[in-house]
Amino acid sequence: MSITFDEEHAVFSLETPATSYIIAVVDGFVGHAYYGKKVSGSDAAYLLRTNEPPFVPSKNERERLSFYDSFPWEYPCGGIGDFRESALCVRTAQGHNAVCLRYVSHSITPGAAELEGLPAVTGTAGDCATLSLLCRDDVTGLEVTLLYTVYEHIDAVARAVRIVNNGTEPLYLTKALSAAFDTDNRDFDLVTLHGSWARERHICRRPVMPGTQGVCSVRGEDSHQEHPFMAVCAHNADDDSGDVYGFSFVYSGNFTAVAQADQFGSVRLLMGINPESFCWKLEAGGCFTCPQVVLACSSEGFNGMSHIYHDLYRAHLIRGEYKDKMRPVLINNWEATYFNFDTDKLVSIAKEAAEDGIEMLVMDDGWFGKRNSDDCSLGDWNVNEAKLPGGLSRLVSEVNKLGMKFGIWFEPEMISPDSSLYRAHPDWAIAVPGRTAGLSRCQYVLDLSRPEVEAYAYNSVASVLRSANIEYVKWDMNRQLADIGSASLPPDRQGELFHRYVLAVYRMQERLITEFPHLLLENCSGGGARFDPAMLYYSPQIWCSDDTDAVERLAIQEGTALVYPLSSMGAHVSTCPNHACGRITPFKTRGYVALAGTFGYELDITKIPAEDRSLIPGQIALYKKFNALVRTGDYYRVASYSRNNEYDCWECVNKDKSEALVTFVQVLNNPNYHSRKICFKGLDPDKTYAVSYPDDEQEKRSMPSVFTGSMLMNAGYTIPRMWGDFQAKLIYIRETES
Ligand code: DGJ
Repeated sequence: MSITFDEEHAVFSLETPATSYIIAVVDGFVGHAYYGKKVSGSDAAYLLRTNEPPFVPSKNERERLSFYDSFPWEYPCGGIGDFRESALCVRTAQGHNAVCLRYVSHSITPGAAELEGLPAVTGTAGDCATLSLLCRDDVTGLEVTLLYTVYEHIDAVARAVRIVNNGTEPLYLTKALSAAFDTDNRDFDLVTLHGSWARERHICRRPVMPGTQGVCSVRGEDSHQEHPFMAVCAHNADDDSGDVYGFSFVYSGNFTAVAQADQFGSVRLLMGINPESFCWKLEAGGCFTCPQVVLACSSEGFNGMSHIYHDLYRAHLIRGEYKDKMRPVLINNWEATYFNFDTDKLVSIAKEAAEDGIEMLVMDDGWFGKRNSDDCSLGDWNVNEAKLPGGLSRLVSEVNKLGMKFGIWFEPEMISPDSSLYRAHPDWAIAVPGRTAGLSRCQYVLDLSRPEVEAYAYNSVASVLRSANIEYVKWDMNRQLADIGSASLPPDRQGELFHRYVLAVYRMQERLITEFPHLLLENCSGGGARFDPAMLYYSPQIWCSDDTDAVERLAIQEGTALVYPLSSMGAHVSTCPNHACGRITPFKTRGYVALAGTFGYELDITKIPAEDRSLIPGQIALYKKFNALVRTGDYYRVASYSRNNEYDCWECVNKDKSEALVTFVQVLNNPNYHSRKICFKGLDPDKTYAVSYPDDEQEKRSMPSVFTGSMLMNAGYTIPRMWGDFQAKLIYIRETES
């Protein structure tokens, strides 16, 4: 059993294969005793330090506040004298804010916690168990259940919180975070992911300093700018060694992720819905569920942490038909045509794409209403027959006749002021009465907290899907939320709008994949602004970034792969000069970089240079040959261009260590230099491996090709020199007879 309770010492032990998470109850207060490398022995309560001043209130009532302010809480509350950042704050009907939670009871059940209306990691009795720790505040009547799902075979603990108002009056939750983690500061660094449009999820690392630091979003989605993830690690932790603690938030709206170093050398980490603009009215008897935070703890550095998240999210978060399947190679017309297309143009792209082995045509933005630019028609989800004569059925059947699948783009959460929908229902847009709402990309956001608006948005998508053989949807979201106001919520519930919006998106996507179980859904948000674990619960892949430049993608994909499996990263080959940055890179390199994701094309195949075009069938063959390895294997960061400013290298190794694929990108050439010696990772030191270049005949002939795993990992492998910048090599390693 992965969860045990030692009644004598009031200690809960949550055990994963390599870690222990220990909770102890003293004086009725639920404390965090330990999280890290596996330990044995049951009386871990001493780790709470309650045998030293200020002791516990039952022994030292006069210093109760000192106790509150130094105790390592599992779930710290505001207003009682723990002056550090809190996880829970309320405003009662009388206007007070104090809450103090005491242990009441617990249960340990097989399987994963289910969170009403929220995405969460899944599991059966054989995979995981859940501890539910019930705590109560006697004054307000609040009952708070701390939920911990612990996996048998993966070093992950998923936390969530359920809050019930068992008092007699309504109260307001002004802050309801999902997880807190108090620990000694062992010279920690904080790692977060930052960026902007076209530069998402760049890794940022700095020491944890006294005071509060962290990342947050108030944009209504996770955003291009900040990401709902943080890790703390030992200062000397690197890709392969050292303690790393990851916190990944299974949520798609406003979030906060905070590290606070305090006066006693402790660090408190907190993660949850951002309290800014949040205020949730909890009626007597009402329940609020805080979204899940997944903790991953590894003593094998960041690669170890990535393996935990990748394994967990592949097996226990991503669902549906495509969960364990190779995705069709697609071609998307966005960068090929933008809004300027018609049926003939799309069919001409599809024809040539089919000849090269591409399997699906995706029609992007611009097929509905009168949308010939981005300033109109969102909400009017009727086919523009001027562009697509004969409608979708004709286009889809032409594409299907070529042996290709057909996919389509939507942006269901939005409304253009220039649309029939807005003219009929101006109050359906999120806005503050009396204040002109600000436009972004010339559009407003639909108030999805209203059931009729949610129903309209859902039916707009579903009725199109019911009308033709559409096998893929790209669900886009191209602006962030501001001027927060709903025409239908009462004043004391306006603070719920952000969260209600997110819950409606989840409901719509759940409905969509239930009604269309064979649909391949790809989430997207102006590139990768909503790339998070929650969206992966609905769509097995997410568009990683609008920046498809092979060099820019290195940092974006490195940061994304820190948490998310490669199987989920939307990655395409696009044309040059690149549309986001103007850089020119070899078609071959663009292909190698896109092979680390779902793979596809984002270009006008009828116009690209013949030399590039001739490479497409070979690229698709590589994708088919190696996708299983990339999709299911262990990902290793080998070298990082973001850190060394010269080259990048990553590796995928299958679970039995019999095969690996290494991608090496020489971003900048170094004149008059040795070959690069790279130590591969994750192989079996005692196995013998043949090393080959699956895409490079010349190198194949000239290199010695058989090595032991220990040689490749410890002594290294010399990557042949390449002439020029932006060059790349794909290296295949396969177990062979010695
Ligand atoms: C943003 C997406 O990231 C692009 O790929 C494209 O679909 C555009 N939106 C269309 O408006």
